[in-house]
Amino acid sequence: MTLPLISMRQITKRFPGVIANNKINLELYPGEIHALLGENGSGKSTLMSILTGLYKPTEGCIMVGGEEVKFASPADAIASGIGMVHQHFKLIESFTVAENIVLSQSKGGFLLKPEQIIADIESLGEKYGLQVDPRAYVWQLGVGEKQRVEILRMLYHRSRVLILDEPTAVLTPQETRELFVNLRKMADDGCAVVFISHKLNEVEELADRVTVLRGGCVTGSAAKEDMRRDKLVQMMIGREVLNTYEKNCEHCGEVVLQLEQVSALNDMNTVGLNNVRLAVRAGEIYGIAGVSGNGQRELAEVLAGLRPAMGGKIFFYGQDLTNKKPKEMIEAGISYVPEDRLGMGLVPNLDSVNNVILKEYDGKFSKGWRIRREAAIAATKRIVEDFDVKL
Ligand SMILES: Nc1ncnc2c1ncn2[C@@H]1O[C@H](COP(=O)(O)OP(=O)(O)OP(=O)(O)O)[C@@H](O)[C@H]1O
Ligand SMILES: [Mg+2]
Repeated sequence: MTLPLISMRQITKRFPGVIANNKINLELYPGEIHALLGENGSGKSTLMSILTGLYKPTEGCIMVGGEEVKFASPADAIASGIGMVHQHFKLIESFTVAENIVLSQSKGGFLLKPEQIIADIESLGEKYGLQVDPRAYVWQLGVGEKQRVEILRMLYHRSRVLILDEPTAVLTPQETRELFVNLRKMADDGCAVVFISHKLNEVEELADRVTVLRGGCVTGSAAKEDMRRDKLVQMMIGREVLNTYEKNCEHCGEVVLQLEQVSALNDMNTVGLNNVRLAVRAGEIYGIAGVSGNGQRELAEVLAGLRPAMGGKIFFYGQDLTNKKPKEMIEAGISYVPEDRLGMGLVPNLDSVNNVILKEYDGKFSKGWRIRREAAIAATKRIVEDFDVKL
């Protein structure tokens, strides 16, 4: 029998007020693609951050190749052959691809040979179908390419355990296909690949084995041949889910939001939105499809008052809201959840109450120049309860 490359035993991680991982056991074998499946906040990223030396476990131990290890930093994990592509990339935009890849190099002596490094990166890129110009600056790359740089970095450091945290979230369907082919090649070369996801169809397609997390605990695991969708759903959310929604528009009412020939520039000052017309009615969920970079963000920002419309009109309940300020849009009742939750949606180093206050700083939570903190705390508690917010 093959020995596991990695054994995580009884791993517990406590943060103030929350147990992110609770007595987790996990084994990773060479040659396998192992999926970690779980809802938001179930503890997937935390578990893998422990394996990569970013966090220390509160309890439990990690064995690499049968030997217990204690990682003091990610550099120790890299030296043990463990690499990770984080959910939020960790690249320096003003450095080149090659510079980013050698940055975390812990050995190699005093002198680096740039031409050799570039040649090595190019040959790795060719072998695994991860083409990207090592001399390009990271700010010049698209998200798909940035992800390739992160994967190349793991391969360059000879990682045997490759962890990818929700890698498909930023990819087009075509890029996802290519990624899956490349990951299979890496597993075939004897690596253990960890694929974090909450998309069942991707897990079923790619993984040889799946471990499911819920509320910080392992709720089950299955090999490919035993993966049954209803079982996975049950393990993931703890109850059955009815997949049938009544989709009819009989209950849809009046037109609430109407866009007439709306145009706007993108960040490059070229046309981002070109004469967009749409009407959303009350009671309706209106989907907008398209490959990212084709105007979705511009559309959302125009509706949030963050980007001026160069032409056209926006009506909300019949009221003309074209080119109003964000504050006026919010007051009218339009809310925007941006795609970049941590960069734009929240101020991560403020607590939840302060984040709630930020959007409604006048009126509701203030009296004259004073903030009514109790009201803000009560409102935050209500939001947390009503929407089951995981803090
Ligand atoms: N640095 C931290 N400090 C405090 N709590 C944290 C920290 N990191 C994670 N948590 C909490 O631990 C729990 C597990 O979070 P984690 O990010 O591991 O979940 P996840 O499964 O990766 O979720 P997602 O699918 O949203 O990425 C959550 O309740 C989260 O709020
Ligand atoms: Mg995560």
